[in-house]
Amino acid sequence: QTNSSWGGRFSEPTDAFVARYTASVDFDQRLYAHDIQGSIAHAKMLTKVGVLTQAECDDILRGLEEVRIEIERGDFKWSIELEDVHMNIEAALTAKIGITGKKLHTGRSRNDQVATDIRLYLRDEIDNIGTELTRLQEGLVGLAAAHSDTIMPGFTHLQTAQPVTFGHHILAWNEMLERDYDRLLDVRKRLNHLPLGAAALAGTTYPIDRHYTAELLGFTAPTENSLDSVSDRDFAIEFTAAGAIIMMHMSRFSEELVLWASAQFQFIHLPDRFCTGSSIMPQKKNPDVPELVRGKSGRVYGHLMSLLTLMKSQPLAYNKDNQEDKEPLFDTVDTLRDSIRAFADMAPYLEPNKPSMYEAARRGFSTATDLADYVVVKGIPFRDAHEIVGKAVAYGIETGKDLSEMTLEELQKFSDQITADVFDVLTLEGSVAARDHIGGTAPKQVIAAAKRASERLSKR
Ligand code: ARG
Repeated sequence: QTNSSWGGRFSEPTDAFVARYTASVDFDQRLYAHDIQGSIAHAKMLTKVGVLTQAECDDILRGLEEVRIEIERGDFKWSIELEDVHMNIEAALTAKIGITGKKLHTGRSRNDQVATDIRLYLRDEIDNIGTELTRLQEGLVGLAAAHSDTIMPGFTHLQTAQPVTFGHHILAWNEMLERDYDRLLDVRKRLNHLPLGAAALAGTTYPIDRHYTAELLGFTAPTENSLDSVSDRDFAIEFTAAGAIIMMHMSRFSEELVLWASAQFQFIHLPDRFCTGSSIMPQKKNPDVPELVRGKSGRVYGHLMSLLTLMKSQPLAYNKDNQEDKEPLFDTVDTLRDSIRAFADMAPYLEPNKPSMYEAARRGFSTATDLADYVVVKGIPFRDAHEIVGKAVAYGIETGKDLSEMTLEELQKFSDQITADVFDVLTLEGSVAARDHIGGTAPKQVIAAAKRASERLSKR
């Protein structure tokens, strides 16, 4: 008994292990809804051009609907012998409606079928991921607006640099995600072309209407070249690359949250429901969600490398290698969707510890640049001002005083240009308020930036 789908030219059945080794049904059954969606459009197109009768088409659509219901109820029996999702569904259809089921594959190959299925699948998942991203961004923008004047230290080299507002810091994350969202839209735009009709590789002799199929499936247009259509997987690579960048960004937020939640920083309170405890150390509350997001970035980077390597040097057109595109792609989708979801759930409930952030900003001589700018305004060249303030900082370290805690007389030892108005710029509030231009950390600017961000989000 040779394979019923293609066994005609074979003289013995497939080796049982080879059948298992080559089968993809265990993982590609995830494509069932999109496979059925593609088949419905294909059947309608074949009917429109007269290859199928309307009665045949009706049978096919009814049969496919029954198959879908069976799969969704969990009653469908997936079979390894039938290799993949496509042949499993086709065989079930034929078992239901008889010989007409066998006509569905007219003018089509699994090569263009699978290329269509993954695009339909990925298009939906990009939309789902986009929805979660928007939810996360809305949470961040809301948090930023609520903390436009909450002061924290800004860092370079993880050393206290200049005071910033917490809202400003959070909006930096939002900007990264804004570009990420755009990248996904870009991937979506390029993948949204219909490969169906390429058949195995060269096209088909039937009078197909690819524009009609494209329209039925919501694709912008049919693809231009049949060889390219069945072998192109760069949309999957592009998606995974965009996903890797998203995970890279989220790993940065994660790292900051993990640091901030530590007893050493105490900048932030993570709600208990996003943390777990330790089985041995009763005092522990671990920031598991950010840690896992940080950790999961690794698998998405790995999938990107898998897909690039999978496609490297493949001759045209379809090769069975391409079956290996699915697991990395599916896992990228799952990891992204779940990681963004976890962050979207958590973001609105991040609670900054204001006194602790404020104190940290005060402790690190974070207004030293402000003092330098002040002396420059009094007519001293910036390089000399830098030197003057450096000495004042050294004195502060020695005496345990912040710049704002020194007396006017103490400060005047470093420059006689310093007068009583210096204390306006030495406060944290004065420092952030002075950065008052687009992109700056002044509370006024943060409020305006949050408003612009939220307007952009509402236009999606
Ligand atoms: N399961 C295959 C895949 O995922 C479908 C296409 C197989 N085509 C073929 N001629 N073997 O790529």
